[in-house]
Amino acid sequence: MRRKMAAGNWKMNGTAEALGEVDKLLAAHPAPSCDVLICPPATLLHRLSDRLQGSAVRAGGQDCHAAETGAHTGDVSAAMLRDAGATHVILGHSERRSDHGEADDTVRAKTEAALGADLVAIVCVGETEAQRDAGETLGVISTQLKGSIPDGASGETLVVAYEPVWAIGTGRTPTLDQIAEVHDAIRAELSERFGAEAADAVRLLYGGSVKPANAEEIFGVSNVDGALVGGASLKADDFGGIIAAL
Ligand code: G3P
Repeated sequence: MRRKMAAGNWKMNGTAEALGEVDKLLAAHPAPSCDVLICPPATLLHRLSDRLQGSAVRAGGQDCHAAETGAHTGDVSAAMLRDAGATHVILGHSERRSDHGEADDTVRAKTEAALGADLVAIVCVGETEAQRDAGETLGVISTQLKGSIPDGASGETLVVAYEPVWAIGTGRTPTLDQIAEVHDAIRAELSERFGAEAADAVRLLYGGSVKPANAEEIFGVSNVDGALVGGASLKADDFGGIIAAL
């Protein structure tokens, strides 16, 4: 039985005062029945993980470099995230793919680095609207999975997030059937590659305009094990509402 997960991706939002929302969340949900993860900007990771000491909530990074150290101005390594208190890292988010030109092989190298540093990798995949309109969704997802996930990933070390690019921050979501179709296809693809037992242990998150009002129906979809939440993770009440729906 896969444990459900609510992961918040704060993206490039939040300075120290945003930690007040974390205090509110911890007070309202002292013992969540699912795994809860908050991925703040790197600048807040240390302070956040200090704040989470003694709670069930975990902290994660939003990206890492594939190398361990070196001349990579502005980047952070997986070990640095770990050192700052992270247990997870989001990799291959569509904003990294589009803003920073990250291709599948880069995401795969970063994922290998994350696993090597003992971080759980949350690997993101998702089609653009044009790709969906062209009927290419399942092909695109399959290619991203093959290219972005390294051999040796397992249910303990890998989470996959399906985030249709056109649903991110837009208030639009796929139909429940469309979500089910993609999540079932992801599970089948993982099963083909890693075997049914290993694939069955990998949690599949849906991401893209998840909010308290639509969380429950999305969480009822086959092979949806939780959510990767952007905007609604910034406010304790909204993120709390999503956690409560799991
Ligand atoms: O990684 C989470 C994400 O891209 C979804 O963002 O704001 O649509 O929940 P949002």
